[in-house]
Amino acid sequence: MQQASEAIIEFNNTGLSILEIGHRTPFFIEVMEEARALVKELMQLDDSYDVMFLQGGATTQFMQIPMNLLDSDETAAYCDDGVWGSKAIKEASLFGKADVVASSKDKGYTYLNKGFSVPSTAKYLHITSNNTVEGTQYFAAPDVSVPLVADLSSDIFSRQMDYSKYSLIYAGAQKNMGAAGVTVVIVKKDILGKIKRPIPAIMDYRKHIEAGSLMNTPPVFAVYVALLTLRWIKESGGLAEMERSSLEKSSLLYNTIDSLPVFTSKIAVEDRSRMNAVFFLNDSNLEAPFLDLCKKEGMVGVKGYRTVGGIRVSMYNALPLESVVAFTDLMKHFSVVSG
Ligand SMILES: Cc1ncc(COP(=O)(O)O)c(C=O)c1O
Repeated sequence: MQQASEAIIEFNNTGLSILEIGHRTPFFIEVMEEARALVKELMQLDDSYDVMFLQGGATTQFMQIPMNLLDSDETAAYCDDGVWGSKAIKEASLFGKADVVASSKDKGYTYLNKGFSVPSTAKYLHITSNNTVEGTQYFAAPDVSVPLVADLSSDIFSRQMDYSKYSLIYAGAQKNMGAAGVTVVIVKKDILGKIKRPIPAIMDYRKHIEAGSLMNTPPVFAVYVALLTLRWIKESGGLAEMERSSLEKSSLLYNTIDSLPVFTSKIAVEDRSRMNAVFFLNDSNLEAPFLDLCKKEGMVGVKGYRTVGGIRVSMYNALPLESVVAFTDLMKHFSVVSG
């Protein structure tokens, strides 16, 4: 934040603000190139992948992916594991057939299906790696023979994984990667160019790759903040360190939930998200007093999503362990005073 705010006044001794440098100047091209290279380096991806920094949020990817990969007479497989995955399914069905091969809707999205099968004719399988709203997370990539597409908006750069199992990964930057306004799309190039539909240039991944994500004016400041965040991840020890820290924070929180009878988690233990812990008060009358106490203690943003209710604690990379320690101390205190 300090570095980003300094760059608003003057970027790298150029006499110019990051907000006023031209996006085609060598100054900015360097920023873009370093950011794109760092994404690949952190995920240990080779040159068969390309990295794009695009606009429109992850929501735009819900339609840009099928627009680029799915012809109108073809089928793509989707997992329906929550609010965001359902939106992706709805958008895909505008371009081709979106076949729901697994859904956890029957139990209020509190678990993830495993071992489901995907027809080999499906163009790809789409999953939401971390269900931000419901609090579930995939810990193993589904074992399928079709290209895997994943929405990593809420868990990108939070863990080590074999990212080469995926053919397309996308994420809005605003949770683990920087400021709102830029979306990263990482694509294995060999899945592109296989459909009949003409694609408007601004929606065509191949055009963005050719132009090095500089086809039109990119969100310069958001890309710069993403670069600073990527450098911070690398300097902190890369994805191994992000994973260690995320495990430490989420274990502390889930252990506290499980040890206090006042709180309860409805999520299948093996699917509990390390990024977003969703839980409830056993006595729903205690929810409002608990949230009031959180507010009084300066712990904001812990109210559950409007359609789910309860409590949701997000533990993105930037959240220090101390915050989770303070929050779990508050939970223990509340459990004593309310019991
Ligand atoms: C998993 C997931 N996908 C998609 C989105 C939508 O992202 P955006 O607001 O960047 O369109 C979100 C936002 O919270 C999300 O958590």
